[in-house]
Amino acid sequence: MMTGFPAYRPRRLRRTERLRAMVRETSVEPGDLIAPLFVTYRTGRYPVEAMPGVEQLSVQAAAEEAARLESLGVGAVLLFGIPESKDARGSGAYATDGIVQQAVRAIKEQAEQLVVITDVCLCEYTDHGHCGLLTPEGEVDNDPTVELLSRSAMSHAEAGADMVAPSDMMDGRVAAIRQALDDTGFSNIPIMSYAAKYASAFYGPFREAAGSAPQFGDRKAYQMDPANAEEGLREAWMDIEEGADIIMVKPAVPCLDVISRVKRDTGYPVAAYHVSGEYSMLKAAAERGWIDEERVLLETMLAIRRAGADLIITYSAAQVAAILGG
Ligand code: PBG
Repeated sequence: MMTGFPAYRPRRLRRTERLRAMVRETSVEPGDLIAPLFVTYRTGRYPVEAMPGVEQLSVQAAAEEAARLESLGVGAVLLFGIPESKDARGSGAYATDGIVQQAVRAIKEQAEQLVVITDVCLCEYTDHGHCGLLTPEGEVDNDPTVELLSRSAMSHAEAGADMVAPSDMMDGRVAAIRQALDDTGFSNIPIMSYAAKYASAFYGPFREAAGSAPQFGDRKAYQMDPANAEEGLREAWMDIEEGADIIMVKPAVPCLDVISRVKRDTGYPVAAYHVSGEYSMLKAAAERGWIDEERVLLETMLAIRRAGADLIITYSAAQVAAILGG
């Protein structure tokens, strides 16, 4: 039972840093962090204008970056590919020698302990920029897309990926990917599904980074309406029933309520994606001297963990790990 003032004085436990540390409920560890990497077919490194500090990396540069992240104690990388050419069927997504497949092999050689996760989607590989195949009417065609996503996931596993993360938001794709992996000897490869993924304006800068902006329309016919939380829970349960091992909620800070409910309801491992727009807003305010970048960043990470996320996907992974290890 709660005791009131003056028997209970909450300030007693706030008086020194040692005391505060003893009763601290939440922490952020480098191992909880997942760093997204944009791997390009080109050689070298190319800064992403809308995301200060983020670069598109060649396969070689990505392997070097992965080794640096591993040495900082970061848990995992999440790979996105920027292919040389795109087509209507996104064939670069499931090519044996595709950009992500190459990157997985190179990273596995230089950073053995790091968990290598691949993003499974077609939008970086289709010339129209949508996350799946189009019908003649220009709608994203669910079931044939699911087949190609399964092929992509298998090709990532064959290249040596430790985990796959479908981000397309097609219905039934987790079951199809699980089946495809099981049928080809990859029953030990976990699926981290983008389960509650909202049609969010916060993805703006990512589309420059990954070169994946839709050429017409938007993604509202497959990503979720930001007004809905109950639906986010249904998506989470559906993906669990289809075989997902980790449930992702995206974006992070605008969805702290969803993170909290998914964690409480399902008890499954939850990952939250602190997305490009969240990252860029923080950077922009810090560049102007309006906020203290490190403190706001750590507080943000802590808030996402406190809401219930076990893992945080963040472009600030190296920076956070460096501060914590500091
Ligand atoms: C691909 C994908 C997107 C993001 C992750 N995977 C873009 C989108 O859905 O439009 C966004 C990540 C970010 O904004 O940092 N479907």
